[in-house]
Amino acid sequence: MLDFDYNIPTRILFGRGRAAFIGDEIKKYGRRVLLVYGSGSIKKNGVYRDVAKALKEAGIYFKELPGVVPNPRLSSVRRGIDFCRKDNLDFVLAAGGGSVIDCAKAIAFGFYYNGDVWDFFIKKIPVNKALPLASVLTLAATGSEMNGFAVISNDETKEKLPAGGDLSRPRFSVLDPTYTFTVSGSQTAAGVVDIFVHVLEQYFSHQPEAFLQDRLSEAVLATCIHYGPQAIRNPADYESRANLMWAGSLALNGLLSYGKVGDWATHYIEHAVSALYDVTHGAGLAVILPAWMRYVLDKRTSPKLALYARRVWSVTAEDDHDAAREGIKKTEDFFVSLGMPAGLNELGVDKTTCKEMARKATIFGDIGNFRKLSAADVEKILIDVC
Ligand code: NZQ
Ligand code: ZN
Repeated sequence: MLDFDYNIPTRILFGRGRAAFIGDEIKKYGRRVLLVYGSGSIKKNGVYRDVAKALKEAGIYFKELPGVVPNPRLSSVRRGIDFCRKDNLDFVLAAGGGSVIDCAKAIAFGFYYNGDVWDFFIKKIPVNKALPLASVLTLAATGSEMNGFAVISNDETKEKLPAGGDLSRPRFSVLDPTYTFTVSGSQTAAGVVDIFVHVLEQYFSHQPEAFLQDRLSEAVLATCIHYGPQAIRNPADYESRANLMWAGSLALNGLLSYGKVGDWATHYIEHAVSALYDVTHGAGLAVILPAWMRYVLDKRTSPKLALYARRVWSVTAEDDHDAAREGIKKTEDFFVSLGMPAGLNELGVDKTTCKEMARKATIFGDIGNFRKLSAADVEKILIDVC
């Protein structure tokens, strides 16, 4: 196991009705809040009502930034920074899914920077100061509620890039599983795929001695396989929603990656696809992950891919290569059984743009660690599923 510093500071208020307590939590850091949310789901399902009530009862002033869209745009981030500066706001509260939380984070760290906030995303400067922020999560998927990353789409350059650090981790997050009862079947499925892929991005590494992290990872994958279909069948099943919600947070709060080096190529590739085509993140991942697995399968990677197949899918093939192939097929079948696409053509992606997407996915150089991938490798992976 490699050395690591454990640091997962976000306080989690988990369970029914926990949004009622946000007033006291916020008052530890600020009194003037920017409330960030999406295109209206929180107004329909009662989340907005609960949050606004809690803020008012605590005597906290708040200004609203609505309209943050999936694959959140830089323009919303800029508007939010402007609101905070003009109205002397000192705390950012996100109520929504990963897109809303990511937008809130970028506002929080863009606030103190006089240059263009996109500079953080093109790695011109690191995050070393941010407004305090928190989230009320409404969709189990990204893990943004417990990590410091923000993934933002630049509407002008058609790029989608991550930025962030420990300072942009939410101070607290409310995880009320009942808030996810209204998530549609397709968004629930996309969320399950996202959680699944986050785990595998960290699982597929060449540190064989990270035994504990791998067994924890398999437990999160088993949770997705067990509760994903149940939540789609019965959207108001509390236990399914609760398990998926906690799985999403644990999948990407750092816990599973300690002591090892993750891969993340699948995510870089998907971000390039959704930058150009504005597709749902989890739907893109559902196609790219199996294609990536097929592409990287070789003598060096087959033992770990076979371990995954045997542990997670109870594959019994003795030969590592055969077992790995069976595991890949089971993964693909699972995603399709949730209603996810099997090809990028189903998402409107045109084969002629594979080269451009491959270039964007490798903008900072080769990607991946389980196996390094060049732009030419990425193009082949994309063409395979177009
Ligand atoms: O806009 P509203 O009205 O809120 O509707 C949203 C949106 O249309 C809806 N929704 C959310 N909660 C709901 C609900 N509808 C009904 N009931 C509810 N309770 O769902 C749609 C999708 O929302 P979005 O926030 O985009 O989904 P998700 O949480 O999957 O976030 C995806 C974004 O996060 C990024 C992705 O790339 C993508 O941009 N990621 C962020 C990461 C991070 N910060 O750590 C890591 C991930 O790998 C990922 O890249
Ligand atoms: Zn993801």
